[in-house]
Amino acid sequence: MKVLVLTGSPHASGTTAALADAFCEGAKSAGHHVERFDTGRMKIGPCLGCMSCRKEGGSCVRHDDMEKILPALVEADAVVFVTPIYYFGMTAQLKAVIDRFFAVNGQLRESNKKAYMISVCGDAEDWVMDGLRIHFTNICRYLHWEECGRLLAEGFYDADGIKATDWPEKAKALGASL
Ligand SMILES: Cc1cc2nc3c(=O)[nH]c(=O)nc-3n(C[C@H](O)[C@H](O)[C@H](O)COP(=O)(O)O)c2cc1C
Repeated sequence: MKVLVLTGSPHASGTTAALADAFCEGAKSAGHHVERFDTGRMKIGPCLGCMSCRKEGGSCVRHDDMEKILPALVEADAVVFVTPIYYFGMTAQLKAVIDRFFAVNGQLRESNKKAYMISVCGDAEDWVMDGLRIHFTNICRYLHWEECGRLLAEGFYDADGIKATDWPEKAKALGASL
């Protein structure tokens, strides 16, 4: 299976990177082809809403790192979103990537992809991720993708904290279970 992992944190060694690393390790150990883009450190501008991509033969007017992601996205059998919680939702970096899906909406809605969400938030209250839960569900519903798994870890501000728990093991197991 072709697995596309899209992370959205600006931190190369943060909490969500720790879970993404473990997930990728698990998926590779199960024989899957994993392609990962750390979008929080890529050059990806927001959708301009210009609708150029909707014109006959049209495509996105922005020429940035999204051009590396879109072909892999269209080809992927499974898409894994990985994001820390920023103000009760995904990061702006990952949201910008998802908004740019608009340029290939038609192809995405016609492909049967599996979708996964991995997220970490600093606070421990169980309502902090409510917005992300419904957002992820609605993205999958709209794209006709199958929502296959969520790993939502609450109460971690730094990587050392989460690495001392079984969350990386859970992420690895999820990757291996695809
Ligand atoms: C701008 C910003 C907004 C944040 N908003 C929230 C929030 O709404 N709720 C929460 O529990 N944690 C919040 N956090 C904490 C992060 O979710 C937490 O530190 C997470 O582990 C960071 O993941 P990373 O190390 O992969 O970047 C926020 C952090 C930042 C920098």
